Amino acid sequence: MATPHNTAEPGDFAPAVLMPGDPQRARRIAELLMPDAREVTSVRGIGGYTGTVGGKPLSVMASGMGLPSLAIYATELFKFYDVQRIIRVGTTGGIAPEAKAGHVIIALGAHTDSNFNDSILPGVRFSAVASWNLLKAAADAAPDPSILHVAPVISRDHFYDNPPEQIEVLARLGVMGIEMETAALYSIAARYGREALSVMTVSDNLIDPSNDMSAEERERNFASALEIAVAAALC
Ligand code: HPA
Repeated sequence: MATPHNTAEPGDFAPAVLMPGDPQRARRIAELLMPDAREVTSVRGIGGYTGTVGGKPLSVMASGMGLPSLAIYATELFKFYDVQRIIRVGTTGGIAPEAKAGHVIIALGAHTDSNFNDSILPGVRFSAVASWNLLKAAADAAPDPSILHVAPVISRDHFYDNPPEQIEVLARLGVMGIEMETAALYSIAARYGREALSVMTVSDNLIDPSNDMSAEERERNFASALEIAVAAALC
């Protein structure tokens, strides 16, 4: 059964889906990992690709940006395509001094300033947390543990409105990254009894812009994030 946002047939998606934000990145990841990848949907330019890695089935599909966009794709993958786990492979702004550009943050949990999770159980402030099984496999697979951080992030509704005083307090509270999707991914996985993990490359550091990295370093470290995400997807 197709949905308004996905024309794939049941069975077209693997049980594990890698989910970058950017549809072009989704295509590049599919081409890089799976010579046998085939496109299973392309509604609104959000391509879904399915193939195999080392004989195991894997799919890649983008989320777009923000909690509501990810929520549409993730909900439909869990509900209509029987997907069992989604691993976000995105970017995040670093807000702790040690979260340097090019480093990798695995989101242990995701605070949010969005109302998105308020409707799950009225009166309950839902805690959006990672799936332990995936988190353990991901952390164990890190090729360079010195650039890996496992920490809370915050999923915000605004990209452009980041009051510096808020960033400082969040960093003091142990939050290492700021992004816009993980709180929805983790809550939707919980709602459907499935697994989820966010493995993100730090694109820049909001408190120390001098932490920037060369394009080559970025690409190398993205490869490391991808390796970690694939290990979680196929564990
Ligand atoms: N804010 C929100 N999302 C992001 C950022 C940011 O600074 N960097 C990468 N994704």
